[in-house]
Amino acid sequence: MDVGTVLNTMRDPAGVPAPPLVFQVLAVVTWVFHIAFVFLTLGSGVLAVYAFYKREAGPFWEQLSLAMTKVAKVGVSLLIVLGVAPLLFTQVIYDPQWYTSNVLSAAWAIGFIFTLIVGYCLWFVFYEANHEGAKRYVGIYAVMSLVLFALDGLIMHVLTYQAIQPDKWMSWYAPGGIVDNSGTTLHAIEWPRYLFIMSLSAPAIGLYLLAYADYLSVRKDKTREYLEFSRNLGRKIAAGGGIISASLALWWQFDLPASTGLRSEPLGWAIPLGFAMLGWLASQRILRLHGYILLSLGAAMIALLAIWRELIRIAYLKPFGYVADAYKIHADLPSTVLFFSTILGVGGLVGGYYLTLLYRAGRVEGTYTASPGVSRLGSAAVAVLVVWIGVFFVYGVAIWLRNAFLA
Ligand code: HEM
Repeated sequence: MDVGTVLNTMRDPAGVPAPPLVFQVLAVVTWVFHIAFVFLTLGSGVLAVYAFYKREAGPFWEQLSLAMTKVAKVGVSLLIVLGVAPLLFTQVIYDPQWYTSNVLSAAWAIGFIFTLIVGYCLWFVFYEANHEGAKRYVGIYAVMSLVLFALDGLIMHVLTYQAIQPDKWMSWYAPGGIVDNSGTTLHAIEWPRYLFIMSLSAPAIGLYLLAYADYLSVRKDKTREYLEFSRNLGRKIAAGGGIISASLALWWQFDLPASTGLRSEPLGWAIPLGFAMLGWLASQRILRLHGYILLSLGAAMIALLAIWRELIRIAYLKPFGYVADAYKIHADLPSTVLFFSTILGVGGLVGGYYLTLLYRAGRVEGTYTASPGVSRLGSAAVAVLVVWIGVFFVYGVAIWLRNAFLA
């Protein structure tokens, strides 16, 4: 049996409830949110530690270290929550690849969860210990935490990269004909890809600092000097980080197998160019773009990267005759409608309410009082949740009754 037949046979016979393209687009879009918070967490985490050890150089470093420690603390929880969505979509249309890859490195796939838990706990220890006059040794908790997060990124990368090389699976599963089902090996690492993606944490935190300075500019308790300090640092990190990331992206571009034809795709070259230009734009003092604009451009670049990753996956799997779009469809309109209306209704109103609230509350000192518009948004968010829970149960009970009495 050839690899392509194996891949297509391993697909879920239940098929998918809507056109596979829907899941493909959702996988790409939701990954953007996941990886954006990976970048924010790693960037703010490294900066928090760096600033922690630089505290003697001036009071702003301490202030920055405390702020970045909090950013990373929140960032980890968001990157985890936002990682679930692309994970589900990948599993729906690339299930043969994803599960095989996970089984081949099962010990690492399981270890991923424990290292993430330990890493996050260590970050909380640092968060608790990082206050004025904190002992220098507490920084080690943060360093250990970041090393574990970097390892988690590596595991994610390996699982993704092994998944797109089905022709090598047998040699990994049974090297030299002897079965190794320990799952303790990370079989394939593409260093340029891993290092490039992880390196984007640097330009990301640079851009974040620029937006941070603009965001806080209305707060009287944040001095102009501190905000200028953050802005200058942001400029430097974004510019330096942009160059480093662009160089790593070029390395990745040359590392792609010539047989896939990916090296001649313009998008692959637009990525290093885009990051270099973004770093340059961020470093400009005369042509000073607002931090939010720069942050939005950064998000657009991440979206290009997400599309590029998907094109790479398609190109790697094409020779085996595996096309996501060819998945069997068992259309299920009600669940598809429920899904999208949940995204729009609950995601839009509840998510929109939280975001508006957080954005506005962070811009005032002391107690924040919601404006009538925000209060109405809050009531609408609660209402939509009640409706959603109602629909969820009514739908479930209706299906149960139909199956029990009418089937
Ligand atoms: C500190 C923890 C994490 C880090 C540093 C991290 C980092 C990464 C990186 C670097 C990639 C891209 C790999 C590549 O394209 O080569 C990635 C992909 C991904 N991550 Fe994470 N991640 C973390 C946690 C999580 C968690 C907790 C989840 C799920 C709940 C998750 C879900 C995913 C998914 C689904 C992909 C894409 C897989 C695919 O395209 O097939 N990640 N992550």
